[in-house]
Amino acid sequence: MSVVEEIKARLDIVQFISQYVPLKKAGRNFTAPCPFHSERTPSFVVFPETQGWHCFGACGEGGDIFNFVMKRENLDFPAAVQFLADKAGIEVKPRTDEQRRIDEHRDKLRGLVEEAVKYYHQLLVSAPEAAHAREYVRRRGLSDETILKFQLGYAPRDWDAALTHLNQIGYQSDDLIEIGCAIRNDAGRIYDRFRDRLMIPICDERGKHIGFGARALRAGDEPKYLNSPQTPLFDKSATLFALHLARPAIREQEVAVIVEGYMDAITAHQAGFTNVIAQMGTALTKPQLRQLSAFAKRLILALDADAAGVRATMRGLNVMRESSESHAIYFDPATVIRQASRFDLEIQVATVPEGKDPDDLIRKDPEAWRTLIQMAQPVSDYVISVGTAHLTPESSLSEREAVARDLLPILVATENDLARQANVQQLAYKLRLGSGRALLEWAQHHLPNQRLSEIPRRVQPTATSEQAASGVVGTTSVQPAPLPAHKPMISINAAEVRERFCVVMLVQHPELLSFANRRFRELAAESPTGKPALTALNGADFTHTQYRAVFLTLAQGLEQLELEPYEFVREHLPHLVDLIDDLREEPLENFKTRLREPLRIELKGVLRERGMSQILLGNDENRRFTFERCALELRRLRLRRENAELETLQQESDQDALMTYQQRVNANSAAIARIEIAMRRGA
Ligand code: UTP
Ligand code: MN
Repeated sequence: MSVVEEIKARLDIVQFISQYVPLKKAGRNFTAPCPFHSERTPSFVVFPETQGWHCFGACGEGGDIFNFVMKRENLDFPAAVQFLADKAGIEVKPRTDEQRRIDEHRDKLRGLVEEAVKYYHQLLVSAPEAAHAREYVRRRGLSDETILKFQLGYAPRDWDAALTHLNQIGYQSDDLIEIGCAIRNDAGRIYDRFRDRLMIPICDERGKHIGFGARALRAGDEPKYLNSPQTPLFDKSATLFALHLARPAIREQEVAVIVEGYMDAITAHQAGFTNVIAQMGTALTKPQLRQLSAFAKRLILALDADAAGVRATMRGLNVMRESSESHAIYFDPATVIRQASRFDLEIQVATVPEGKDPDDLIRKDPEAWRTLIQMAQPVSDYVISVGTAHLTPESSLSEREAVARDLLPILVATENDLARQANVQQLAYKLRLGSGRALLEWAQHHLPNQRLSEIPRRVQPTATSEQAASGVVGTTSVQPAPLPAHKPMISINAAEVRERFCVVMLVQHPELLSFANRRFRELAAESPTGKPALTALNGADFTHTQYRAVFLTLAQGLEQLELEPYEFVREHLPHLVDLIDDLREEPLENFKTRLREPLRIELKGVLRERGMSQILLGNDENRRFTFERCALELRRLRLRRENAELETLQQESDQDALMTYQQRVNANSAAIARIEIAMRRGA
């Protein structure tokens, strides 16, 4: 149980609020003059059953014990948690202490990496023993400005130069080992990991230093690049080199270019191609794609023209970078295609001429690089052209079938129905294998591969949330089930799923909020009676404390520019960090099955046109549409709840109050009607 849940379990809202205002029993509920504004008729109501409160008077607000305290004591959410935990006799301290210890340790490690960066950088800039390193960067064409911007450095030759320096300024050897700058051998001896290397600091998304790539400076020094190991700060598979520098340009152009090496990215930035980032010798991972999807619409992978190598990966052969001398493959087309479709990213491939690096190319001929990027082709075209390059007009049917066998699983990996169909058709055409459908039928027979049975006439999601969580989303070719004729009751659970869905979408795509609010403004303009109930999405639309807190903080996060909204939320809700990370990671397709029933009923007309998977996973427009629905639905549920509350109140109230309540019910009902029309109307 979380602290929040425990507090709710221990404190009774009626008892608690009666410490502030005298509550009078009125039927099942309790009323009082509102503690937040002055009034004669009591319009403040506390509901013991739902442990909620609501002011039906001037402030019109409501919620649970947490936002009561926040409002009454003027506290933010974390302070309210602390306040109530004290009242409830719950110790928040242990967790916080533990958390604080971890945070402090992390801060210390960060400080240490920062010092190491400074130390190496200083040496590169001025140490006599770094003369050959300066000569090296000069030879590679790096300017002083670039050296400064990337904080490049030099690690001396000695076994313990960095160790000694960092020990001297107060850091323990154990911490140095933890951040990967030092190593302890079996004999217990501690020594520098990086010796006589060019140090390339690696930053996280926010520009904080977390690790190093270190290039050998002398021929024969192995490996060529020595990277920081996995540390509490550095996770190679979740990091993209130079992302913090490239972010503004990526955001502006909505395009990110991904190259393979550190030097490629550094040179690109120096030449003014500032939307370039580098992978660090790994395949593109899900966290990396998610990061990018927050500000890019299109990714261009600059792949070298090692066609044989690419074809090998297409056959599913694992080309391991460690075992290969040359540029190894960091491109796993099926995975990239699948993940990209999930994150709504368009993937293109730019082919770098064989034997060249972007680094060489950009230095020698920036215009050629520009052209190469402009000529990037959709990843499916690329896969087909590379995969069929060895065929001739004389190639036999069985040769062409062999190609189909290799390429089909890649081309159907996308979760975008239209793209999938187009890809298959294109391949069928290229291989002269009849129509796309014929090719698919052939595939059903000849490929035992699971994925192919997923090529449906009409995609109907059947993934359980566990499957979806593990990344295995299955689809089958069943027709949609007939729609139920009557509306079932919306359960509390349905509200919870929606609230979660809503905050998941917002944490991942904060910009959606403004679209939903614009919709509320439009509806308010169309419905004078319903207007008071058609305000912007707000805290009262959420019944779950956690989701409400996340929502409200996110809305604040949108008002500032310093941090990404979700980072802002993370920083301001320390108690909910785990939840926020979950929300950030939660794939939207998890909700396919959980939302399907109620959503389908509400959206039946629209759904018939668009298909569920498109609505949940499609492009920006569809995502906006889905979020808008979700926001409207949250509001509708809330207004219905309010009306139910008002109904019980009316039975026990005097004439004056009855009037106010009635007005309120009228506004709510008008708003509900307006919302329902909007929902039926579709986009
Ligand atoms: P490359 O071998 O293509 O190096 O590895 P590069 O970027 O062209 O290096 P220069 O131009 O010779 O300096 C590409 C990327 O793969 C990772 C690094 O991230 C490198 O930038 N790599 C390569 C390693 O991690 N270790 C290695 O030993 C080699
Ligand atoms: Mn290179």
